[in-house]
Amino acid sequence: MKAWLLKDFGLDNLVLDEAATPEPKAGELLVKVGAVSLNFRDKAIVDGIYEPHLVPKPLIPVSDAAGTVVAVGDGVTRFKVGDRVNSHLYSRWLDGEPGPNEPDYCFGSPLPGGLAEYMIIHEDSAVRAPDTMSDEEASTLPIAALTAWYSLVDYGQLQAGQTVLVQGTGGVSIFAVQLATALGAKVIVTSSRDENLEAVKKLGAVAGINYRTFPRWEEEVLKLTDGKGVDLLLDVAGGDGLNQSIAATKAAGRIAQIGFLTGQTTKLSLMPLIFRQTNIRGIAVAPRSSFDRMNAFLNQHAIRPVLDQVYSFEEAPQAYEHLARGAFGKVVITVS
Ligand SMILES: NC(=O)c1ccc[n+]([C@@H]2O[C@H](COP(=O)([O-])OP(=O)(O)OC[C@H]3O[C@@H](n4cnc5c(N)ncnc54)[C@H](OP(=O)(O)O)[C@@H]3O)[C@@H](O)[C@H]2O)c1
Repeated sequence: MKAWLLKDFGLDNLVLDEAATPEPKAGELLVKVGAVSLNFRDKAIVDGIYEPHLVPKPLIPVSDAAGTVVAVGDGVTRFKVGDRVNSHLYSRWLDGEPGPNEPDYCFGSPLPGGLAEYMIIHEDSAVRAPDTMSDEEASTLPIAALTAWYSLVDYGQLQAGQTVLVQGTGGVSIFAVQLATALGAKVIVTSSRDENLEAVKKLGAVAGINYRTFPRWEEEVLKLTDGKGVDLLLDVAGGDGLNQSIAATKAAGRIAQIGFLTGQTTKLSLMPLIFRQTNIRGIAVAPRSSFDRMNAFLNQHAIRPVLDQVYSFEEAPQAYEHLARGAFGKVVITVS
């Protein structure tokens, strides 16, 4: 099969090549990949800054895929040839709390990903792709949408009428705006671009703050929330900005610590955290059961993923470069 192989770190070492078409073992599905979408994780893996010790070389990269089952291994009962499925990043985390070694079983490193004509997905971890979505649309769900959903619903327990803050206008955050709005919450968004703040208002956000114009954006959040702060904050920026997130969240409110765009370490001031009694939970996507519940909600509310641009299979490096420049919503690659 045709496959993009990451032979060493760096985008120059991502090469279009041939690889053996995998064969499904007992319990596994062979999936003809229709489309994949890129996440910050995929770029960070190529750059060698995301758990580099776990990255096999060569690697078929990209975790998030949608496609069609073309063969099944012995004993498969959940899916049949012809079904459309999604990959699920944490392929062994099916329900409840995570086990201690979930990152060892992630697609797109260390397991082979979807940037190839075919991929193997175990039937237990595969998720039925929404009938209403194309493969390009469905490919955006496994990390970006599901991380937003788990943060808002499973962890955040977000209720209609509550206020949530979403940082930036990348993949996770745009889904968070759409999902939280559909849940009846009021969404405040921060972005470095005024035009993106206008665009998120069309998706339902009630207010936007440019974090370049207002580097003390937490003060603007307090003005918008009667001095109290938001009920729930989705932090994708990480770094020392976590202190601002604590200040922008109400007393005993919740922060979902999702990302590390500005840094993987933080210098945390403990006294505000203690006095505000903030709950901070690290988020690592979600179990498969949450994915199933999310897809039902997406169908019910007719939510369509926001695609910034769709690239052809041969244009995969350009898709990575697009993500690095910044995207509004998702960058997608059609595979077949
Ligand atoms: N833990 C998990 O389960 C999980 C899952 C998914 C993603 N993540 C992490 O979450 C982060 C975002 O992922 P993504 O895939 O959504 O990325 P993405 O699509 O590349 O989006 C990045 C966006 O973040 C915004 N941003 C950058 N610096 C910011 C800052 N200082 N303050 C506020 N916003 C900032 C920018 O928005 P503007 O252009 O509007 O400024 C940028 O477009 C990454 O660190 C990723 O690794 C974690």
